Amino acid sequence: MHISVLYHELIDSLNVSPNGTYVDCTGGGGGHAALTLEKLSDNGRLIILDRDVDAVARLNEKFADDKRVIIVHSNFADIDKALHNLGIEKVEGVYADFGVSSFQLQDGSRGFSFRKDGPIDMRMDTSSGEPVSEVVNTFSESNLSTIIYKYGEERFARNIAKAIVTRRAVKPFTNTLDLADVVRAAVPKKYHKKGIHPATKTFQAFRIYVNGELEAVEALMSKIASIIKEKGRFAAISFHSLEDRIVKEWLHQYSLSCICPAEFPVCVCNKKAEFKIINRKPILPSEKEIAENPLSRSAKLRVAERV
Ligand SMILES: C[S@@+](CC[C@H](N)C(=O)[O-])C[C@H]1O[C@@H](n2cnc3c(N)ncnc32)[C@H](O)[C@@H]1O
Repeated sequence: MHISVLYHELIDSLNVSPNGTYVDCTGGGGGHAALTLEKLSDNGRLIILDRDVDAVARLNEKFADDKRVIIVHSNFADIDKALHNLGIEKVEGVYADFGVSSFQLQDGSRGFSFRKDGPIDMRMDTSSGEPVSEVVNTFSESNLSTIIYKYGEERFARNIAKAIVTRRAVKPFTNTLDLADVVRAAVPKKYHKKGIHPATKTFQAFRIYVNGELEAVEALMSKIASIIKEKGRFAAISFHSLEDRIVKEWLHQYSLSCICPAEFPVCVCNKKAEFKIINRKPILPSEKEIAENPLSRSAKLRVAERV
């Protein structure tokens, strides 16, 4: 099962209006969605998106009897198209809980885990794109190194890329545990941290790359202003600094009311703030939540209101 991170914090931050229409961009196990539904009346609506077909099947089953719910197999990067197809122009709130679900992590056959053996896939939407096996077996050493450094912020990216290329010349990679072992061996022992697998950052990097995760967050952020009604809210939980930086930067830009250079005597840009930032500092999980669910340790929740 998947334990929803910042469960009450995320949904409370939306100030759900009972008759409103909301979009859950990352349905997953439907935990946050169920809490949103508790706050909606019979006239409210919840559109749930997920790009993972398994998640969509699970959500369809979970909410089969709820007429307020519409589940769409879609990348949240296409939120505007998904709403347009439903004849909806604007909504009272949009929220996202980025990253992967425990269903995905725990299913070895999906290839997300360095602890469970399986094919090296890691695609959330298995109906498109290339699996990570393609990347590790065919990309140049310098491309691999760039991906591992850029999306994993891994200081040993070069060592790891070299080890991957050396090993695949003898035998191509097919299994996650095999890849995890090669990565582990390429990270100097003194940098192995207790309780954290040395392949964590490398697996994260490949996952972000094959799923175009940062591009999807960018696309979502670029669209929220045209989708959310006045006084409606946007809230998002990020799990690593790359994602959080994108959310933070977009919300900052949206919140500015003038971007003229400081030396201009009067405003000529006519820019108007589109969002008001609700919490300057991100909301973090409590120590209790982190102790109960260590996967929540890096979560950051940011909230803004459409003006
Ligand atoms: C952390 S889980 C969400 C868990 C959910 N909030 C809950 O309470 O059960 C993230 C989900 O978002 C989905 N996802 C990730 N990126 C996506 C994207 N760009 N578009 C749509 N769904 C995405 C994943 O497939 C996964 O099911």
